[in-house]
Amino acid sequence: MTRTPGFLWGVATGAHQTEGGNVASDWWYRENQPGSPVAERCGDAVDSYHRWPEDLDLVAGAGFTDYRFGLEWSRVEPADGFVSRAAVAHYRRIVEGARERGLRPLLTLHHFTLPLWFAAGGGWLRPDAAERFLRYVDALAPVLEAGVERVETINEPNIVAMFPKLAAGGLAGGLPEPDQATTDAMIAVHRAAVARLRANHPGLRVGWGISVQDYQAEPGAEAALEAYAEPRDQVFLRAGAGDDFVGIQTYTGGRLRADGTPVENPSAERTQTGWEFTPGALGGAVRRAARVVGGVPLIVTENGVATADDARRIEYTTGALESLRAAMDDGADVRGYFHWSLLDNWEWGHWGPTFGLVAVDRATFARTPKPSLAWLGSLAPSGVPA
Ligand code: BGC
Repeated sequence: MTRTPGFLWGVATGAHQTEGGNVASDWWYRENQPGSPVAERCGDAVDSYHRWPEDLDLVAGAGFTDYRFGLEWSRVEPADGFVSRAAVAHYRRIVEGARERGLRPLLTLHHFTLPLWFAAGGGWLRPDAAERFLRYVDALAPVLEAGVERVETINEPNIVAMFPKLAAGGLAGGLPEPDQATTDAMIAVHRAAVARLRANHPGLRVGWGISVQDYQAEPGAEAALEAYAEPRDQVFLRAGAGDDFVGIQTYTGGRLRADGTPVENPSAERTQTGWEFTPGALGGAVRRAARVVGGVPLIVTENGVATADDARRIEYTTGALESLRAAMDDGADVRGYFHWSLLDNWEWGHWGPTFGLVAVDRATFARTPKPSLAWLGSLAPSGVPA
């Protein structure tokens, strides 16, 4: 691949999956209820709330130039109306620490977890959802002013809008259709947050990150594919019109029949999360997203694979980057790539799937880089894919 000056080259993490001890969040509450449907609790996660300097050292030391990490709303506002200055100062220190190491931070403001008080009052369907989210956004000013260039308001709103159905029925038959009221509410909150961030922080680049998998149509299934994709990701991609970027988060792909059902592929290699091992899905997802968003630049804000075999991770990522390069050569306007994830971490109810470039001992929290960390970092000595 040719080098593209300014291309963002990074790794991504999420707040709840890595920080540990997010006791004021809705997920913590759910994980720790007697008879919880969540198989394994997050607990201390991988203690990144305290070990963030070490995490940043790993990212910068490997040669990356960009780091995507999350802020935890339930730490910033653990009670309705109370802003923790200590939590805001903590996140500001991480931004400063990233800049000191030459890393450009991309912040995620919401990544699946909510403050329990917000969730208990109806979550995204509360009439005051946007107002409350904007209050949180305003509280983050000291963090954003410490040198943040990019913000993802909401991580995968399309998956959030599927949560009730995912909890009820799993993935049999493909991804469920997102709940319409939640879809509408999240789009409204995102638009309000973009407007507020732009008004208060000129120069900040704002977008959101959408889960976009590579759906392909079987012959004659083009209309079915459109009907499948429209509520599941395209409406969210289109809602990013006018943003500075749209984040694309891709892991896998599949084919759809004319009756709208996914083609089963029993012989396919599966990852630890049960998804088909499809490195080229990234290019397919980016091509479709580029068509849907029109002229808005894309950033791959997540792409990776859950595997215990790090050589397979390198193979997957090599294929993914080749497919990305081909999509870019064909005109897709992609400005960066963030690998999911820096660390083996808590995978929403499970500790088994390992997405990390770095292994973590869950008893001592010791970090051990896998060969893929140095490999991926070294592809980008000047912040660009090779
Ligand atoms: C989420 C991450 C998650 C990853 C792998 C994305 O849906 O944003 O939190 O760990 O996929 O499942």
